[in-house]
Amino acid sequence: MATSVSASVEASARRTGLRVAVLASGRGSNLAAILRACAEGELNAEVVGVFSDKAKAGAIALAQHAGVPTLVLNPAAFGARQECDQALFREVDAVRPDLIVCAGFMRILSSEAVAPRTQRLINIHPSLLPRYAGLHTHQRVLDAGDVEHGASVHFVIPALDAGPVIAQARIPVVSGDSAESLAKRLLPVEHGLMIASIALFCAHRVRHSEGRVLIDDVAQSRPRQIVP
Ligand code: GRF
Repeated sequence: MATSVSASVEASARRTGLRVAVLASGRGSNLAAILRACAEGELNAEVVGVFSDKAKAGAIALAQHAGVPTLVLNPAAFGARQECDQALFREVDAVRPDLIVCAGFMRILSSEAVAPRTQRLINIHPSLLPRYAGLHTHQRVLDAGDVEHGASVHFVIPALDAGPVIAQARIPVVSGDSAESLAKRLLPVEHGLMIASIALFCAHRVRHSEGRVLIDDVAQSRPRQIVP
């Protein structure tokens, strides 16, 4: 599989647009949204590789179906986290991504992997960060009695879900909501947020500087709000 990733580099170099690598461990609905937006010209971008720690990830099947090069690395085959990350990013770098999107990638990346990529490594998280980093966000929103929920796209830093937030989208919590109903209602909103965030990169409008998000060279005091 590594061969197919490298082999695609030359062909992809002839195309224009933002080169996006996607890291995913799960079903891949965010990847599907990105692929659709690229295909329909909503994003001037191209998915140049999909990488996973799970051979059975839906994202891998989706990418293969779309003719996108894939690579699966089994973390159990590596000793330390850094070794796995090194092998992973060697392959990610081979597709020369302008942007690396973690979309449901369920591994914490080592600081060695993050540090050289602080301008072009982003993650989508299903909560209004800084609230509810980590898992089970929908249930935690309900347990706290919050009246709204949402998702965030942020630059990745070595601490979990703690990087500067680029953009957020919100949904109301309504009476009778369960963790499942919240997850279901939030998912399409996440997709819109993801596309809007990648569009900022396509337009070269967003940067990460000293822990802050700059849009059009202006440091943002709060995340950009994307209306679903
Ligand atoms: C999304 O809810 C994302 O926010 C979270 O994992 C989920 C990934 O979904 N981190 P999918 O695999 O893109 O469908």
